[in-house]
Amino acid sequence: MSHSFKIQFLDRLRAAVADGTLVRINLGGAQAIDPSLRNVFIRPIAIKGVLHLSFTYRHESRDIVKNHPPESAITLIDELLGMEFHDAFLSTTGGTAHLNVKKGRSPRLEFGDPEITDAPDLAHDHVKQRTIRTRENPWLRALGVTGEDDRVNAGMEAKYRQINRFVELLGPLIHDAGLPKDRAPVAVDMGCGKGYLTFALYEFLRQPGGRAARVTGIEVRGELCDAANRIAADASFDGLQFMAGTIDSTVLPHADIVVALHACDTATDDALAKGIATEASLLVMAPCCQKEIRPQLVPPPVLADALRHGILKQREAEFVTDALRAALLEAAGYEARVFEFIAPEHTSKNLMIAAVKRRTPYDRDAAVKKAVDLAAFYGIKRQRLAQHLGVALGA
Ligand SMILES: C[S@@+](CC[C@H](N)C(=O)[O-])C[C@H]1O[C@@H](n2cnc3c(N)ncnc32)[C@H](O)[C@@H]1O
Repeated sequence: MSHSFKIQFLDRLRAAVADGTLVRINLGGAQAIDPSLRNVFIRPIAIKGVLHLSFTYRHESRDIVKNHPPESAITLIDELLGMEFHDAFLSTTGGTAHLNVKKGRSPRLEFGDPEITDAPDLAHDHVKQRTIRTRENPWLRALGVTGEDDRVNAGMEAKYRQINRFVELLGPLIHDAGLPKDRAPVAVDMGCGKGYLTFALYEFLRQPGGRAARVTGIEVRGELCDAANRIAADASFDGLQFMAGTIDSTVLPHADIVVALHACDTATDDALAKGIATEASLLVMAPCCQKEIRPQLVPPPVLADALRHGILKQREAEFVTDALRAALLEAAGYEARVFEFIAPEHTSKNLMIAAVKRRTPYDRDAAVKKAVDLAAFYGIKRQRLAQHLGVALGA
């Protein structure tokens, strides 16, 4: 039975590749041949006009991308399924197929409505793997990342690495979020500071020589906005602006992408809530200073002794906060992904939560229950994102 389900799944995949309707494949349920490997995300791309399937191997702390011609890609998926992964999700413009072949359980193959019905755009820059090069981006110099010789300044290597890592991970996320093709994408960066990543986001989204993006940075420190606006004007970035204000008080008419990187403590929740309210397709957060729930943590008795130690209690607070945020995002209709943004040796503030808005129905009550149960397990009665979303914890 499991074998015939797998054959059916692969036949659907082959047909979708042949008729150009493939959107994406996700492999999950890793079976620990390589214990650091979590998922493989696969999507069609055109390389020099020839169709390939691009595999993003998501490891615990890094992504590895490999591109394969379609036939060898399908052979590889066939090998990975059942060997390294027991769960596969196929999305085509005609519908979805979800295969589960976990050992010891009845195999399942379920079909669903399409997530999107437009044929995927395979133009190479649709899934950009672009690097923000120093010479081509004078705004890096204005922001102090590079010097007159376009070399990265001493002490700014980590920032330059962070900028490039950010744009590298945006490509697959934007692809999965499926931004509108008939207008410029609209993005907001909340708590943008000096704007390093806001400039990078704008540079990534705008089409060279053509359609512009609209990107707004929100920052409570007005002087940073004034400086960033001057640099944007000097670079003739017409679609990029910085506005002084707090995240919570910002009125967001619409945004496709909402970003908040290292916005402190509950500012991340305020940014998530704004993004959810505006029905953004993609939310990208790098949380930090998770202080809110720490005083409320009532761990299960078995953990009480371990959490006498301040650092472990802090780590626990970070874990519970971000796990709860991911669960609440699922409850709000997003597919949440939590992963390391940059290698931990460069910074400990390296967790990223990305959320792609679902385009298919989901069980909201079940998702809310998971969030409520998680909060209850740790004795959490109040959390800012839950409050924004009207999810009652500790009832
Ligand atoms: C650690 S910096 C990060 C800057 C930038 N996002 C980055 O990752 O490079 C956090 C920034 O968020 C701003 N900020 C914190 N809370 C905010 C809020 N509620 N509203 C607007 N800005 C906020 C701070 O002023 C600071 O500039």
